[in-house]
Amino acid sequence: MPEPARAAPLAPDELLALDRQHVWHPYGPMPGTAEPLPVESASGVRLRLAEPAYGQRELVDGMSSWWSAIHGYNHPVLNAAATEQLGRMSHVMFGGLTHEPAVRLAKLLADLAPGGLEHVFLADSGSVSVEVAVKMCLQYWRSAGRPEKRRMLTWRGGYHGDTWHPMSVCDPDGGMHQLWSGALPRQVFAEPPPPGFEAEPDAGYLASLRALFERHAGELAAAIVEPVVQGAGGMRFHSPGYVRALRELCDEYGVLLVLDEIATGFGRTGALFAAEHAGVTPDVLCLGKALTGGYLTLAATLCTPRVAQGIARGEVPVLAHGPTFMGNPLATAVAYASVELLCAQDWAGAVRRIERGLRNGLAPAAGLPGVREVRTLGAIGVVQLDHEVDVAAATRAAVRAGVWLRPFRDMIYTMPPYVTGEADVARITAAMRAAAEVA
Ligand SMILES: Cc1ncc(COP(=O)(O)O)c(C=O)c1O
Repeated sequence: MPEPARAAPLAPDELLALDRQHVWHPYGPMPGTAEPLPVESASGVRLRLAEPAYGQRELVDGMSSWWSAIHGYNHPVLNAAATEQLGRMSHVMFGGLTHEPAVRLAKLLADLAPGGLEHVFLADSGSVSVEVAVKMCLQYWRSAGRPEKRRMLTWRGGYHGDTWHPMSVCDPDGGMHQLWSGALPRQVFAEPPPPGFEAEPDAGYLASLRALFERHAGELAAAIVEPVVQGAGGMRFHSPGYVRALRELCDEYGVLLVLDEIATGFGRTGALFAAEHAGVTPDVLCLGKALTGGYLTLAATLCTPRVAQGIARGEVPVLAHGPTFMGNPLATAVAYASVELLCAQDWAGAVRRIERGLRNGLAPAAGLPGVREVRTLGAIGVVQLDHEVDVAAATRAAVRAGVWLRPFRDMIYTMPPYVTGEADVARITAAMRAAAEVA
């Protein structure tokens, strides 16, 4: 067979012109107004640009591609897992068929997750895994003859994704989905948990949570929160004591608990799952992002036998959800390799080393004009300003310093890959300080 002709590479100018004309970017207008940086390749913790930007051809990645690429790029173990699986089959439908990569991954996740989360629904993105979690909880109560229990409780300041039900439990005020507040299902919102990972839980706040359960338990299917770190809603840290309190309130008032660990799962906060800081097992757990080491899109919704059996007892005993690419063999094979790779190394030591580097490197930023607070937890470092970030100016300053950052709202932050060495962590913190000075 004749070889198909290879398309000639696009010159950077041509690529950008076509991008502007045809390609919708995240949270952007069409046609685009900002100029994205074309990336040619990525390896280790470095992104290689198609041409230099502000004097830099290679950037240290401070973002892990939205917190997913924990092992860095072009990793030989993940490459081998993908290549090997590609030689067998890249995809096969999951209805009526099954395969080893999905089964192995589900078993591994059930073994590693907080005890009792035995059942695994494989979804195609974090947002979809949250949709599935909500559907599981509502259906659990419907099957129990309590269809009126169909609202969700959450605390303000959260972020759970961009599809419909996840949007309804995102921060309703400052968040990016405020536009839809009149159209989304109306959920029950507590105030944001008081800040500070180390802080003692506040008795007044706990009483206000209890009052919400007291008032709404009869209509609540579940509480859903990000444990310990609220990510895209504002990069805030709170005491694990609030997660423990939620578990107790859920048990007392007959409400399910969903923990969204899409951002915090797989070591980011210093524990393999943030629920471990609180010693809590949720009824439903959402995982995504770092699950495949950032290689492919995949998420998982885990639940306990109580939830699964509750659904099975209903008039409709099945969970009516089945994405076309459910359990994708390539994604599950790479996810299995990624989670095994994580567990085979001293990831906790790596996260502690990064935490030390972030704390030392960001401490001087606390004295800069316009900086409200500097905080770190695990491999997360945040410089919060007292004003909205000038994203273009901050990005330019970071790129000049050889680092890729993507600030938002009043935040300049980093969540680097766990393989980031000390010198590169120092480079990231220097770039964050430089960005804070001009933002
Ligand atoms: C806590 C949390 N939940 C859900 C999501 C949505 O995941 P995805 O972007 O894969 O749909 C995100 C993404 O940032 C997240 O941080």
